[in-house]
Amino acid sequence: MKKLILDLDTGIDDALAIAYALGSTESELIGITGTYGNVLMEQGVRNALAITDLFGHQEVKVYKGLPHASTKDSFEVLDISAFIHGKNGIGEVSIPESSRDAESMSAVDFIIDAVKTYGEDLIYIPTGPLTNLDAALKKAPEIKDEIGRVVLMGGALTVPGNVNAWTEANISQDPDAANNVFRSGIPATMIGLDVTLQTLLTYKETQQWRDLNTPAGSFLADMSDYYIKAYETTAPHLGGCGLHDPLAVGVAVDPTLVSTLAINMQVDVEGPTRGRTIGDPTKLNDPDKSMQVAVGVDVPRFLDEFMNRISGLAKNS
Ligand code: BDR
Ligand code: CA
Repeated sequence: MKKLILDLDTGIDDALAIAYALGSTESELIGITGTYGNVLMEQGVRNALAITDLFGHQEVKVYKGLPHASTKDSFEVLDISAFIHGKNGIGEVSIPESSRDAESMSAVDFIIDAVKTYGEDLIYIPTGPLTNLDAALKKAPEIKDEIGRVVLMGGALTVPGNVNAWTEANISQDPDAANNVFRSGIPATMIGLDVTLQTLLTYKETQQWRDLNTPAGSFLADMSDYYIKAYETTAPHLGGCGLHDPLAVGVAVDPTLVSTLAINMQVDVEGPTRGRTIGDPTKLNDPDKSMQVAVGVDVPRFLDEFMNRISGLAKNS
């Protein structure tokens, strides 16, 4: 059985990623590591604890990660993030705080430990900045050859960014860390805006969760409606909100949901295009390609899987 670690800046679509992972019984969510982005790392960790409680999965351990980018010494949530995800990260919906605490082991040590324990069976799914994975690779570089795969939400290859013309939000938080990860040779699948902006959630689906009449169903519906509403302002042409982070989980569980391009990638770290995800020109002729970039997605099949798995979980919690 595949073992999954989610690395989350637990905002709204990160919360949906937790639900997708817990609703996927063919794999096991062995832990959540916290990062910063949509919210402060500490708030994201609190959200992850509360959400796993709400879904009846108190066994999922949560680990604190690094609180800011590798090249900075602090982090502040951007106004746009608070607008899209709410100040609390979960659309201003209030759910009971968990009585559990984060584990005392650091996220970086947990990642390394999990690679040593599960090797090829481990899939690590970052849906925020790549700061924790970069730190783990610096501490234990050999894990790049031992891990099963990284399936990350971030970047944009065939479409513009969502922060500016070049940059996607997760990569923009720590381009240096992302560049180190991309160029490390670790086997990774990039689930970028190329595909995540094709998978949209609308009020029609959130009504199905509301109709479940369970605490988890109401939470999912209220939180996601907040996200859809924000998208009506930031990207009105889409007609829904992007299912960024859950698609990364979907692909980790079932890689056939996307078609990919094999390519060695880099992230621009200098100049005006800082944060751009692009092919590494120095490895263009290298026959070994360490990354796969998703360029197509089976939208109806993913949406079906998404609704079935999450509704199955929420009807009982
Ligand atoms: C990514 O940025 C964050 O706001 C979302 O949670 C997602 O991981 C989309 O660009
Ligand atoms: Ca995220």
